[in-house]
Amino acid sequence: MKVTMRIRRFNPEKDKKPWWGEYTVDVEPTDRVLDALHQIKWYQDGTLTLRRSCAHGICGSDAMVINGRNALACKVLMRDVGKVCQVEPLRSMRIVKDLVVDMEPFFAKYRAVLPYLINEEEPPEKERLQSPEARERFDDTTKCILCAACTTSCPSYWANQDYIGPAAIVQAHRFIFDDRDQGALERLQILDDRDGVWRCRTVFNCVQACPRDIDVTKAIGEVKLAILEEL
Ligand code: SF4
Ligand code: F3S
Ligand code: FES
Repeated sequence: MKVTMRIRRFNPEKDKKPWWGEYTVDVEPTDRVLDALHQIKWYQDGTLTLRRSCAHGICGSDAMVINGRNALACKVLMRDVGKVCQVEPLRSMRIVKDLVVDMEPFFAKYRAVLPYLINEEEPPEKERLQSPEARERFDDTTKCILCAACTTSCPSYWANQDYIGPAAIVQAHRFIFDDRDQGALERLQILDDRDGVWRCRTVFNCVQACPRDIDVTKAIGEVKLAILEEL
């Protein structure tokens, strides 16, 4: 099947403003948007710039706006995009080139929530044991692949990029509710801020955007509740 790909292009070194590039690709219905982008880059215009790694929905590096919605290019099938497929870089991020955005501010927010196990006790000889029930408590948020689709779909984030954003809160949730961890209070204090969880207005865009089907808004709500109960 033939599909027209409309791609938002921008090279800050030579373009004054972004422009739309149009390309016709010949694809199978079961090809992914990533395959169509590869076809353009490899056979039509080598200057097209995008980021991807695993091509199987695991690494989180190819989040972009596809027909108006945040998604991973390697997970959207061409049979679902229509005759014209519009592809843009993630919103509210500095464009490095074409579909590649500067992820550093996003990862700075991730690092700010101390996304690692904190436990000062001497570790046991083998491992820190955990019951299946205790593991279940934060199972959903372990699925996050840090693709930024949630944070860049959030109107609160569009309005104010000081907001720590749903992805960082999801990552904090993963450790706050881990009963082997001792850093929950510190993380809750970090998130109890006007640019922390309280900037979330329960818009739910993040839930729709998440390619891992994480209930992001529920996780944020649990962190808000923990702040009210613990601090
Ligand atoms: Fe991506 Fe979902 Fe993690 Fe947000 S919560 S960064 S959308 S995987
Ligand atoms: Fe934004 Fe999601 Fe909250 S879209 S306002 S982080 S529920
Ligand atoms: Fe890794 Fe799409 S390329 S998630």
